[in-house]
Amino acid sequence: MRPARSWLHSDAPSLSLNGPWRFRLSPTAHLAADFADSAFDDSAWDTLPVPSHWVLEGDGAYGRPIYTNVQFPFPIDPPHVPDENPTGDYRRHFALPDDWARAEAVVLRFDGVESLFRVWVNGREIGGASGSRLCHEFDVTAAVRPGDNVVAVRVHQWSAASYVEDQDQWWLPGVFRDVTLHARPAGGIEDVWLRTGYEDGHGRIDPEITADPSAFPVTLRVPELGIEQVWTGPADVAPLTAGAVRPWTAEEPRLYTATVSGAAETVTVRIGFRTVEIRGDRFLVNGRRVVFHGMNRHETHPERGRVFDEEHARADLARMKRFNVNAIRTSHYPPHPRLLDLADELGFWVVLECDLETHGFDAVGWNGNPSDDPAWRTAYLDRITRTVERDKNHPSIVMWSLGNEAGTGANLAAMASWVHARDTGRPVHYEGDHTGAYTDVYSRMYASVPETEQIGTDGSAAPLLGCTPAQGARQRTRPFVLCEYAHAMGNGPGALDQYEDLVHAHPRLHGGFVWEWRDHGIATATADGTPYFAYGGDFGEVVHDGNFVMDGMVLSDDVPTPSLHEFKAVVQPLRFSFTADTVEIANLRHSADTSELRFRWRAEHDGVRVAGGVLDVPVVPAGGTASVPLPSVPVAADAETWLTVDAVLATATAWAPEGHEVATAQQDRSLPRPAAPARPRGDWRPAEGTLTLGIAEFAAGSLRRLAGRPVTGPKLELFRAPTDNDEGTSGEVAESDASIAGISNAALWRRDGLDRLTTRRMSVETTEGALRTVDRVSAANSGLWVAVESTWSLEDGELELRVETAPSRGWSTVWPRIGVHFELPDAGAPVDGAQWFGTGPLESYPDSMRAARTGRFTAGIGELSVEYARPQETGHRSQVRELVLTSAGTGVLRVTALPDARGRRPGFSLARHTPQQIARAAHPFELPASTAGHLIVDAAQHGLGSRACGPDVWPPFALRPEARTIRLRLRAG
Ligand code: GAL
Repeated sequence: MRPARSWLHSDAPSLSLNGPWRFRLSPTAHLAADFADSAFDDSAWDTLPVPSHWVLEGDGAYGRPIYTNVQFPFPIDPPHVPDENPTGDYRRHFALPDDWARAEAVVLRFDGVESLFRVWVNGREIGGASGSRLCHEFDVTAAVRPGDNVVAVRVHQWSAASYVEDQDQWWLPGVFRDVTLHARPAGGIEDVWLRTGYEDGHGRIDPEITADPSAFPVTLRVPELGIEQVWTGPADVAPLTAGAVRPWTAEEPRLYTATVSGAAETVTVRIGFRTVEIRGDRFLVNGRRVVFHGMNRHETHPERGRVFDEEHARADLARMKRFNVNAIRTSHYPPHPRLLDLADELGFWVVLECDLETHGFDAVGWNGNPSDDPAWRTAYLDRITRTVERDKNHPSIVMWSLGNEAGTGANLAAMASWVHARDTGRPVHYEGDHTGAYTDVYSRMYASVPETEQIGTDGSAAPLLGCTPAQGARQRTRPFVLCEYAHAMGNGPGALDQYEDLVHAHPRLHGGFVWEWRDHGIATATADGTPYFAYGGDFGEVVHDGNFVMDGMVLSDDVPTPSLHEFKAVVQPLRFSFTADTVEIANLRHSADTSELRFRWRAEHDGVRVAGGVLDVPVVPAGGTASVPLPSVPVAADAETWLTVDAVLATATAWAPEGHEVATAQQDRSLPRPAAPARPRGDWRPAEGTLTLGIAEFAAGSLRRLAGRPVTGPKLELFRAPTDNDEGTSGEVAESDASIAGISNAALWRRDGLDRLTTRRMSVETTEGALRTVDRVSAANSGLWVAVESTWSLEDGELELRVETAPSRGWSTVWPRIGVHFELPDAGAPVDGAQWFGTGPLESYPDSMRAARTGRFTAGIGELSVEYARPQETGHRSQVRELVLTSAGTGVLRVTALPDARGRRPGFSLARHTPQQIARAAHPFELPASTAGHLIVDAAQHGLGSRACGPDVWPPFALRPEARTIRLRLRAG
């Protein structure tokens, strides 16, 4: 095995061994190694592409993926694994290029093999390695021969290494990254490290060249900076100033191309000048505080698994930039090395994490945890060495992370010491070091908002997790990051804005990394060919963790979820504060001014544009503000008036087109227009039979048709198909008095029968131009109930529905919603879309409202729901004013929502399925065939929270049983 070194772009010859290999899978590791022999006949073997994971090839012929979060999918018997150990044998021929005869060495490089492998060349055993997401290079000089050669690789799915690779993801064995052969020239450059620094407009290069003396003289060139530095021997190599340079930052990722040339080889390194430093409790780059608006990024692709797809990765990173993401934690292992090139180029602050997690030892009280077992010390040091050495040249990497959820112990401390000695230019992160014994930043995951605030505050007596008071005091002297927060599983999370507010209130808090960027769904299909994205359990795993792997801000098919839009709005780098005639624009960025932006404004009356233009905004420096006069906005007497200001890209970038919206804000300029109070009516008398009121037809008090279409309802709907957060039990419950430790809200809703409400009609009465029913709604075996009074009336010739709901005493949980449900059977022309004036364009919930803007929107019924991997509540549009249900583009029913007495407006959802149907489906394909549209108008909805892994809904956004009123005007078309 060769020593770890940088993954360099070199002009020395190389030969890719990617492509079809011969492949055989065996159920056990105990096999003869006869296949390694050159003469072995593999003609009966299959063919498998390299790179790939064998479980994702051959349609199940080579086993299936397994998903576990913490659990080990094999007995906890370290360092042993069962005899049932799928083992893949690979073989291929390659022709050694003729001119490689002059090479001093031939090196065989594996960029990623899961989990343990051995290599033979022409029957000669070369060595073996583990460290799945790490690079391994073997010297095969003595084994190769001119002309035809055979390379054989044996890969075991399970090994001792599996105990330290227990990350929350699919187990995906195989040679899944590139295999390459490198001709190493005599006098070549073995390794280069161009450390850089930046201060006061000037750059510095501190080189480290690893090369044989015969490589010298070695020349460093940075043509753009006029640098041509010749070192005649290794002893000459010394730091140099680079003169006046532009710094590298995530916002302005200025790179310079450097070459290092010796006698026989030139390597090219793109350098960026920046200085990373911790000063007191501040994390600084180039002397300025960094705020991480980050994502945890796994390598995952619905067809390829962890096999790198550069185009897909680039598109994904460009998407991050478009959504104002400025940082990446490479959870929980080094990505494909090219990803760091992309991060350098597009601009991200990267926390580069080592391939290490031993979380499964939690199940045995951390007994035998490799992190504190001297037998594992060498393996741990090997892992961190490979991690740092491979990627050390990247300016985007601003911190090294030792790994994730591996408990704590001497081996982690030793890793940190090794990094501190090797790279003095980057701090060390590891969340499991709760007391700060060997790391440089204080890091936590899923800390609640109050707890995060306490961490940011001096003088707080609150103890820190796992710390004595003294240790806590030490941690408070350091910069704080949330290496994971805002668990994005299913619909959610809420409260992103609360975390963001803290970052601006407490400079010690440096933001964090959302868990996580993408769903890890694997593209598969049902027996009848219906495609879907699989999660844990879908491949018949013995132990698995279900859909806990579907917790991304982007769905498996690359669709950004509404929560990503929320994130974008919450962390937008500009803030706008309006007065009557000015807008103050604050630039919150690290270092970029606003010169690349253009500012637009528009005025809308009830969502219809009436004026607009471009604002004249001076360049606002990072950290600065500018007060800009606003144009005069025409204000409507009989409509809402909204002013919108957008900051958009003035020119295209590598990640977005010109005109891309970076930040936006709205100001409500509406004149007050109080809603007419409900008209009291008297003289109610019992009614029966049929009745017509304007566009509504009733029989025995129940609505039958509206505007000529069959309609059932309104029916009280208290249930929503539980979100993953509703099903969650994590987090401290004290924050929300309605939660019960260890019991999900969804379980309480099912206990109370919210999903199976029944109705007893207590009265039907009419009076002149009006109909009134009173229902008692309750569930089997429950004494709790809700009174629902529905009044239909004609007001100024228009049909009005007023629904008053009032809970009985005794309800103890939060409610998912208080709504009324209208069923709209397809009957000829199905309701297939909506136009509305309200908030949109996407769904919003009380604790996730920042991406919702007020305007006029149109959507097909399918677009109104998000296809979460596990069907759940989706589609709520808050604060609707007017809604037109459409069929094939034509309006069929127009609903105007009047504010209630406190000025609150309802929201709506329109879907092809009921909450109960959605709640029963574990995958989208399990939803039944639909025969009706379902309109639910909600007086209120419960927030989202992130209790799938984190805090519950914050009390002000939790919906407690309460009396509410919904008031709607209904018209045809
Ligand atoms: C964290 C862990 C992540 C992931 C997350 C929950 O504890 O570090 O890898 O499992 O929880 O989705």
